[in-house]
Amino acid sequence: MRQTAAPAGRIETIRPAGRLEGLVRLPGDKSISHRYAMIASLAEGPSRITNFSTGADCHSTLGCVRALGIEVEEDGTTVKIQGRGLDGWRESPGDLDAGNSGSTIRMMSGLLAGQPFTSRIFGDESLSRRPMDRVMKPLAEMGAHIEARENRFPPLVIRGGELHPLDYTLPVASAQVKTCVLFAGMFADGETIVREPMRSRDHTEIALREFGAEIRSAQRVITLEGRPKLTGREVIVPSDLSSAAFFLVAGLLVPGSSLVIQNVGLNPTRSSLLDFLLSIGASITVLRIESVNGEPVGDIQVRHTPVRGGVIEKELAAALIDEIPVLAVLGAASEQGLIVRDAQELRIKETDRIATVAENFKRMGITVETTPDGMIVPGRQKFRAANFDSFGDHRIAMAFAVAALAGDGPSTIEGAEAASVSFPEFWGILNGLRG
Ligand code: S3P
Repeated sequence: MRQTAAPAGRIETIRPAGRLEGLVRLPGDKSISHRYAMIASLAEGPSRITNFSTGADCHSTLGCVRALGIEVEEDGTTVKIQGRGLDGWRESPGDLDAGNSGSTIRMMSGLLAGQPFTSRIFGDESLSRRPMDRVMKPLAEMGAHIEARENRFPPLVIRGGELHPLDYTLPVASAQVKTCVLFAGMFADGETIVREPMRSRDHTEIALREFGAEIRSAQRVITLEGRPKLTGREVIVPSDLSSAAFFLVAGLLVPGSSLVIQNVGLNPTRSSLLDFLLSIGASITVLRIESVNGEPVGDIQVRHTPVRGGVIEKELAAALIDEIPVLAVLGAASEQGLIVRDAQELRIKETDRIATVAENFKRMGITVETTPDGMIVPGRQKFRAANFDSFGDHRIAMAFAVAALAGDGPSTIEGAEAASVSFPEFWGILNGLRG
């Protein structure tokens, strides 16, 4: 297997659960937190972001913004950012550190490309293996000069300068690339257009509109007017539906469970997760829904239910890409199993998630057939206790902690600290829900 094991880290022991019950409050959405921090740092005047993600990834973004001369004050999960307008960033005295965060490096690249100075941005070992040519290509077409290791891997040296607007058709469904191009388009005079092959999460469009940019979107074509005047404001981040996914699956898996997840983001570009779970027979109820800063937010309840299983392919594979590891776990317990196709993007996430899911399945005695773009997981399999490895990947750590709840004895997760990339509170919350 291509993955290198994470350096021996913290080990969590997870015992099988009798039932899970209670109220779950989750940290702020990772995708939205990144965007609010970046946009607020280019707005005029102060912004106050409430329920900012506690994940390390979003703190990598805050670190970059600070290094670019913007005042950032943190008080628990409230972040105050003192924006100085679109031209308010200053050259960083040192290299920018994106840590483990693909969103930070790809989205910041668009903003750095429009600056009148050069920046160098790097990441950890996992990020250094992830392709950046998907953002380098459109940025080069806009006039940016970017150098990368082997022309595609971090670190990136971004020689910022004048940019032209672009009409760009995304070759892959990627919200990070869409955001990168739109962010660069803010520094170009005229209209930048992004055309998407499939709809990807639209938090950038919503957030830019909230902060005052002129942005239109219809039928997967997004048009942004360059040089927007962004104004600092107060925004609240909904809780992260991708973090909720672990508790939704845990609630479905463990007999007798009933969980209510509060104030979670229900943006339709993310909530295909709920549609998919409902379509395979899950008992999930949306208890309340409202709009907060243009984002739908609500409370959901999940109750233990046996699920049928199904197929994740095409647009659904793109929409559920972050949730597939934990859905694969559910698939192994389902009646008919789970087939995943068209998900080759899984191979270039924080780890090759097809390989890391398969390796952990093997350790617990679960049969899986991997394919270049997915996997076939037969249903009705017995979950054995095992020693799992996160391979340094937050979503793998959490997906197999959920699997361990249905094991036949105590399991361990090595490299459990990886969860902190998006969800440091995960272990505490999980242990607090045992009935
Ligand atoms: C994200 C987009 C997705 C997702 C990632 C966060 C975002 O990546 O997997 O966790 O915040 O825009 P891609 O844009 O590579 O699909």
